[in-house]
Amino acid sequence: MALILGIESSCDETAAAVIDGNGRTLAERIVAQRIASQDEAHRPYGGVVPEIAARAHVEVITPMVGAVLADAGLTLADMDAIAATAGPGLIGGVMVGLVTGKALAMAANKPLIGVNHLEGHALSPRLAEPSLQYPYLLLLVSGGHCQILEVRGLGDYRRLATTIDDALGEAFDKSAKILGLGYPGGPAVERLAREGDPKAVPLPRPLVGSGEPHFSFAGLKSAVMRAKQAGTWTDADIAASFQQAALDCVIDRTRIALGACGPVTALVVAGGVAANAALRGALEGLAASAGLPLVAPPPRLCTDNAAMIGWAGAERFAMGYTDALDVAARPRWPLDANAAPVRGAGVKG
Ligand code: KG4
Ligand code: ZN
Repeated sequence: MALILGIESSCDETAAAVIDGNGRTLAERIVAQRIASQDEAHRPYGGVVPEIAARAHVEVITPMVGAVLADAGLTLADMDAIAATAGPGLIGGVMVGLVTGKALAMAANKPLIGVNHLEGHALSPRLAEPSLQYPYLLLLVSGGHCQILEVRGLGDYRRLATTIDDALGEAFDKSAKILGLGYPGGPAVERLAREGDPKAVPLPRPLVGSGEPHFSFAGLKSAVMRAKQAGTWTDADIAASFQQAALDCVIDRTRIALGACGPVTALVVAGGVAANAALRGALEGLAASAGLPLVAPPPRLCTDNAAMIGWAGAERFAMGYTDALDVAARPRWPLDANAAPVRGAGVKG
């Protein structure tokens, strides 16, 4: 067994997990995991409030680590290493989890691994699907990030696309807010979209057909706002039409990336929006037309969790990559540091 304690606190989920890096199946790999969502605390504000998030992490993280070790029937002394998210994310929250990891590593005299949250998402399909081999093409779609990456190996990423403005999850969340669906918006939009007609509202598909590799969702969000104000359509029709327009953009961008990347073993989707069934269905079709399997982790491993952080830690530990106790918490931390900046304001990660 290679037992890793994983800790995640970069946004609005506090999570801890015990991972066995030598497990052969997903069930063997996740020895125990716990997640505490802060949705209730942020709901009145319609989005994550960083200071509330950081305080909420402080309140639950220490008992949660104790509880997840108890669930596993193990102690800190049984762990081979401690892996904590070191960024990117809301810096107050990242610091809470990373300092907790450092304290545990110091107290128990264990190696520390500072994990890139995006690497956690990027490797989550390998946790879920043990047969998945490098290199693969990854669509990483979450609340803060929207990227297509060629995952060539552990720590070896080539970014083929990013967003010029909003992330895909952000577009879902903002559209949900416009439709009065509350926070978090993605699952609510998906539920309402099932009752609507995806062809009802004429909405733009920004950049589709342009050959431009990157994403843009700000114009789509504004069009959703105008559609709501027009009062012509039901909220369900707007939700369904928005989701269809967003997915059309994603499929078009991913098709371009498939043509631009080297040989890959699979098309892979990860991050919170990968929980969306309509997206998974659309990507199935695209992967099949490219002669590739689609690998998508189960929805509970797509949204933020500590199992993916523990797993990334396990892959790093197996390669002998550990960090010093003074490893820094980073609000920004791109997976491909060499990627060229994209045009447009408000460029994300
Ligand atoms: O990966 P994640 O939990 O946190 C970040 O690292 O951002 O992703 C959260 C994002 C939110 O924007 C949420 O609305 C979106 O993922 N999301 C969804 C669905 N489930 C979560 N978006 C669309 N459909 C869903 N079913
Ligand atoms: Zn995330």
